Parts: sequence; structure tokens; C-alpha cells
Amino acid sequence: MQSREKSIELLYEYIEGESLLHHSKMVAIAMQAYARELGKNDSETDEWWTAGLLHDLDWEKFPNEHPNKAVNEILNGLGYSELVLDAIRAHAPERTGKYPETEIERYLFACDEISGFIHAVSLMRPTGLDGMKVKSVTKKLKTLKFAESVPREDIKKGAELIERPLNEHISFLLDVFMKELQ
Ligand SMILES: [Fe+2]
Ligand SMILES: [Fe+2]
Repeated sequence: MQSREKSIELLYEYIEGESLLHHSKMVAIAMQAYARELGKNDSETDEWWTAGLLHDLDWEKFPNEHPNKAVNEILNGLGYSELVLDAIRAHAPERTGKYPETEIERYLFACDEISGFIHAVSLMRPTGLDGMKVKSVTKKLKTLKFAESVPREDIKKGAELIERPLNEHISFLLDVFMKELQ
């Protein structure tokens, strides 16, 4: 496994856009928090964090090849475990043919779109994430015109994949983001 520092270096090498950098960090933090909650050891937790951090690594430079370019070329041979690479593959099943099955794969799928959505909701609020309630998120989920590009189906499917009610998943993530993103 690569060190966290190396992964961060790689992230900044391939991504310039502030919002994609922010998204990558959010998903990394979400994955780390779930790894800890599930009782993973430190090296497993590093893998979960890393899969979150690098899942959109090639999105900015190779949008049409995402995430195949990242797993098959950029990250290939750099010492990342198959577990991490498969998780990245499985966050975009329609592009890779790999469906989320293992725990890390299911959690990455479940954390990706909802983290982007929570961020979109936070941008609408004067206090950002501060004091955000689960209800502010679920209300916006039902407003299909809001953050239109975020597929509601994937958010629903994500919660099912990790066998958590969507409300609890959102509540867990809000706590994590409020504590760790400020
Ligand atoms: Fe992606
Ligand atoms: Fe993403």
C-alpha cells in the first residue's frame, strides 16, 4: 500500500478543480469513518480512506475513460491493493462492468453520490454544514430539480447495499463531516 502522503500527492497531480478535490476528501473521510465504525484495523482503514480519496482520480483529465484509466493505468503498479482498485472499479459499475460486492466496494458506492449531494445542500445554506439536519438533505432529495445531475437511484441503492436506512446513513455522514471537515 502507498502512504497517505503519496496518495495525496497523486491526487494533486491529477486534479486541479477545487470542488473535485473537496469531493475526494469528503469521500475519503466518509470511508475512514465507516472503516473505524466497522472495527477495521489501521491498515484496512488506510485502504478505505485511499479508495475514497482516489476514486475520481482520472475524472478531470480523462472523463471518458473514468475510472478505467485510473485503475488500469495510473494506479497500476504503484502498490495499491486489488481491494482498493476493485472498490474504485465498482463505484462506476456501468463503466467498468464491476458491481459493488465486497464490503469496501459497497461502502464506496454508498458514500460517493450522497457525499456530493450533502455538499450541494451545504452550499445553499448560509451556515454551510453547520447545524444541517437529516431532513434538510432528504427534503432536497425529493426536489428533483435540485442538484439534478445527482442520481437519486444510486443514493437509494447505496443505502440498500450497506443495509442501513438512508436516514441513518445521512445522519452518520453529517456527524462525520461536521467534525472532520471544518
Ligand atoms: Fe466517479
Ligand atoms: Fe465521486
